[in-house]
Amino acid sequence: MLGESDHTLRKFVAPEFVFGAGASRLAGRYAGNFGLHDLLLVSDPGVVSCPWFGEICTSLDEAGISWTLFSGVSENPRSMEVMRGADTYEAEECCGIVAVGGGSPMDCAKGIGIVSSNNRNILAFEGVDEVGMPGPPLICIPTTAGSAADVSQFAIISDEMQKRKVAIISKALVPDISLLDPLPLLTLPQEVTVTCGMDVLSHAVEAYVSNAGSPVTDLHARRAIDLIVRALPAAVERPDDLESRYGTMMASLHAGLAFSNASLGAVHALAHALGGYFDLPHGRANALLLESVVAFNYSAAPGRYDDIGRIMQAAEGGGERALVSRFRAFRDSLGITGTIADAGCGLSDIPSLAVRAMADPCLATNPREMTPEDIATIYEAAF
Ligand SMILES: [Fe+2]
Repeated sequence: MLGESDHTLRKFVAPEFVFGAGASRLAGRYAGNFGLHDLLLVSDPGVVSCPWFGEICTSLDEAGISWTLFSGVSENPRSMEVMRGADTYEAEECCGIVAVGGGSPMDCAKGIGIVSSNNRNILAFEGVDEVGMPGPPLICIPTTAGSAADVSQFAIISDEMQKRKVAIISKALVPDISLLDPLPLLTLPQEVTVTCGMDVLSHAVEAYVSNAGSPVTDLHARRAIDLIVRALPAAVERPDDLESRYGTMMASLHAGLAFSNASLGAVHALAHALGGYFDLPHGRANALLLESVVAFNYSAAPGRYDDIGRIMQAAEGGGERALVSRFRAFRDSLGITGTIADAGCGLSDIPSLAVRAMADPCLATNPREMTPEDIATIYEAAF
């Protein structure tokens, strides 16, 4: 008895990906392989100002590909930004997209693609499998180690009018190729490194305890946890150490492969509601909620959480308290010491946040079922 599976049918979807130092400079070659000639280059102002951004543009130029820059993307990309990008895509008669940046430009690029091919408002795709036509060819170059939008079936877009985040989950959102290059990570500010790294940890933990996991996603989730708890503190301590940066990038990749296929859970459902309302960095919202969700969920998957405790070297004897303490110590050591109250949340906000979190598709794969009252209790515990 190998004890690894109950033989439930599962599938695993992943794009082609190339990883290693200098992978981002292959953008022109791969765009050429797809037969692209006019493409939309989606990024954000911070990324555009980085020295290595020009090298990516040069690789497109050298391949004879003309491109139009769209950099009107904010952190937590808004639906209007996606629609503006789709207008530019159409006006410039583009036939493909290259996204360069963290989760925000990549999610925006995914949104631009499906809006262009389906001619609908981006908010109409909310939920699971609501995308009809796939978008045009999409090449992603992630420049943070966190969102894994470059390999995932997910895009998170802010509905700025309702101050909520919309989760779009569809195989049509898996990019065609990801070029994973650790070199751009060397210039990542510490706060971005930390919040994105906490997103990686949240992805891996939620995928590992998801009720849609499989032996294949388990493999990637365990590896991601092991890597991120070692590489993230090292990358914070030595930001210009390529080996540590490479470790965070590989952790992000493994976590992305795990969560894209096993989906997520209550940490992300509650973080989307919180982050959408208070416009918080996504990884920070996750970090502030992780321990409280683990404490609530533990009884539904104790063996799984104990595995995570062993990987993270939680205190001898294990159990819920040891694991929760380990998560708390980990984020404290990285300088995320606040609570959701420090992030601007008031007690009176919790009931409406709980209603929003209940509607998030990530909740469907949480190992323990939740009522709005349970969710409110978790928010209060993180207060
Ligand atoms: Fe995330």
